[in-house]
Amino acid sequence: MNAKIRWGIIGTGNIAQKFAAGLSVLPDSELIAVGSRAKGTADNFGDRFHVAKRYGTYEDLTQDSEIDVIYISTPHNLHKENTLMCLRAGKSVLCEKPFAINAKEAMEMIWYARERRLFLMEAMWTRFFPLMAKVREMLGAGIIGEVRMLMADFGYRSTNLKEWVFDPSFGGGGLLDVGIYPLSLAHSIFGTPDRITSMAHLGETGIDEQSAAILGYKGGRMALIASATRTETPHVAYLLGTEGRIYIHPPWWRPQTLTLSINGKADEVMQIPFDGNGYNYQAAEVARCLREGRIESDTMPLDETLSIMKTMDVIRAQWNLKYPME
Ligand SMILES: NC(=O)c1ccc[n+]([C@@H]2O[C@H](COP(=O)([O-])OP(=O)(O)OC[C@H]3O[C@@H](n4cnc5c(N)ncnc54)[C@H](OP(=O)(O)O)[C@@H]3O)[C@@H](O)[C@H]2O)c1
Repeated sequence: MNAKIRWGIIGTGNIAQKFAAGLSVLPDSELIAVGSRAKGTADNFGDRFHVAKRYGTYEDLTQDSEIDVIYISTPHNLHKENTLMCLRAGKSVLCEKPFAINAKEAMEMIWYARERRLFLMEAMWTRFFPLMAKVREMLGAGIIGEVRMLMADFGYRSTNLKEWVFDPSFGGGGLLDVGIYPLSLAHSIFGTPDRITSMAHLGETGIDEQSAAILGYKGGRMALIASATRTETPHVAYLLGTEGRIYIHPPWWRPQTLTLSINGKADEVMQIPFDGNGYNYQAAEVARCLREGRIESDTMPLDETLSIMKTMDVIRAQWNLKYPME
């Protein structure tokens, strides 16, 4: 492995720009190439983020022998195709959330990466914040006792129904876009649910504009999650245990403050700041894994990614929301 982990990016949109800014604070990583559907767009991105190599197709980028790992930031419906293209070229991959459209696609991606012994991870960036590591440590130490319930939301108000996130052919809808955050949190704490009850409002473009789900687990533990694309929600997360609770302040998915409440004691507010814009932590995890020769992250394992995709499949089936490519 070289002194620096050399990154390439596929797609130059909103999140690619944030990721590039995040990468720039990591001393052991370097963004060396960007791929876009148009060379001019790649050039603009390259100028803005000081990226030397600019490709006018995604495929050309995958053929660059100097790249160690590719970050995929295209719309959801392209994640499988783009990931497989990178893996076939022998590249490690960090793929944006949702990892795929459904569990079937995710299985194919995971199978291929494992077969080729290449690193693959879902870019669920929230998990890698210092505050989330602290929460895992506190839960592991039993500070709030047994966690019995979780409540979390992620909803924003968009009024532009022309955005691809409202288009079923892109895998649009609140669940895959943002509901996946509270769902992923629930999976990381409780594992795979054994009961799922949910409800959604499907809007005029046919996607879920708001939804809520209750996930049930052994022993009666529960997660209550909500998401929306047309309604702003509080962006809070509560972990409720037998001995107390942890409240992650908004936006909980880019966390830096929590309140720990232990039964019978005064609340303790903890500030746990993050460096950069926060996208750097998931990139640092990829770099660590690559240097250690790992093909999966322990913090965002592929089996868990698959389990999350399966849960979203079950939830969507309850709403009769099937995408055109399914
Ligand atoms: N982790 C996070 O915080 C976070 C936040 C937002 C989004 N995301 C995820 O990241 C992915 C991209 O979201 P985004 O908000 O960055 O989207 P975006 O701003 O629309 O950018 C997507 C990029 O994908 C490429 N693309 C390829 N085919 C496209 C098509 N048919 N229509 C539009 N773009 C196409 C384009 O890049 P070129 O023109 O260069 O080819 C475009 O700029 C989504 O899966 C989303 O869920 C993650």
